[in-house]
Amino acid sequence: MDKYDMIAEFYDLWTKDYKVDIPLWLEYAEKCGSPVLELACGTGRVLLPLAQKGFEITGVDISEKMLEKTKEKIKKEKDDVQKRITLTKGSMIDFDLNKKFNLALIIFNSFQLLLTQKEHDFCLSCVHKHLNPNGKLIVSAFYPDLTRPEGVLKNDRDKPIPDYPEKGDLTEILYYQFFDHAKQITDIRFILDTVKLNGGLKRREFDLKLRYFFPAELERILISNGFEIEEFFGSYDKSKFTGKSPLMILVAKRK
Ligand SMILES: C[S@@+](CC[C@H](N)C(=O)[O-])C[C@H]1O[C@@H](n2cnc3c(N)ncnc32)[C@H](O)[C@@H]1O
Repeated sequence: MDKYDMIAEFYDLWTKDYKVDIPLWLEYAEKCGSPVLELACGTGRVLLPLAQKGFEITGVDISEKMLEKTKEKIKKEKDDVQKRITLTKGSMIDFDLNKKFNLALIIFNSFQLLLTQKEHDFCLSCVHKHLNPNGKLIVSAFYPDLTRPEGVLKNDRDKPIPDYPEKGDLTEILYYQFFDHAKQITDIRFILDTVKLNGGLKRREFDLKLRYFFPAELERILISNGFEIEEFFGSYDKSKFTGKSPLMILVAKRK
């Protein structure tokens, strides 16, 4: 099973309480207007609330399973919401939707799934082609804390997931993480330990690589692909980015 397909299985349970970013994306959708493009839209965590608020939105994702989950949720929505959503399976480094947008989102560290400079450039050049003049792009990524520990980690945010994958199961997510500082890559092994109802233990593992960026580097990547940086926030409350901020949220305008 592809790693994103595996993530699709528990993504919604895992991110169920993660809504802190949504008001900011809604605010920019309001400012820019429809249509909105979300690259790496996953299971519609952000795409759906935007469509529910009246925005016309297209989601692109590489994983069939992630998109299936989104489609299941869309079916339960009212007709008008359903009509505002378009989903396309494809890669954010190479897509042609034959449509222009007023706002593009690459959020929740999704741009960091692209590991090479070529991929960053391909992706941003596609985004550039798909934006109307003065259309905006928002990229959000974590700010790398180089003192982060390596090795096995448990994230306090991640509570054990009940009834996953089967009723009566309890699944705990652990991480094994290490850094390749030369390539600026965080290598994360996800370890899913499931305690079965009969007391048995089942372990599943998969790896994910995330490119980490530094602030001036991320700005430069956007600028060299035809964008002008308008805002640089360090958190979803729109506070200015400082060297101590947890996030890098760049709002850029297509030149
Ligand atoms: C962390 S999830 C983010 C989902 C969603 N944006 C959110 O905020 O909840 C990352 C998503 O990126 C997708 N993905 C990974 N590589 C991709 C690529 N090259 N093109 C498009 N989607 C990709 C995965 O399938 C996954 O759904």
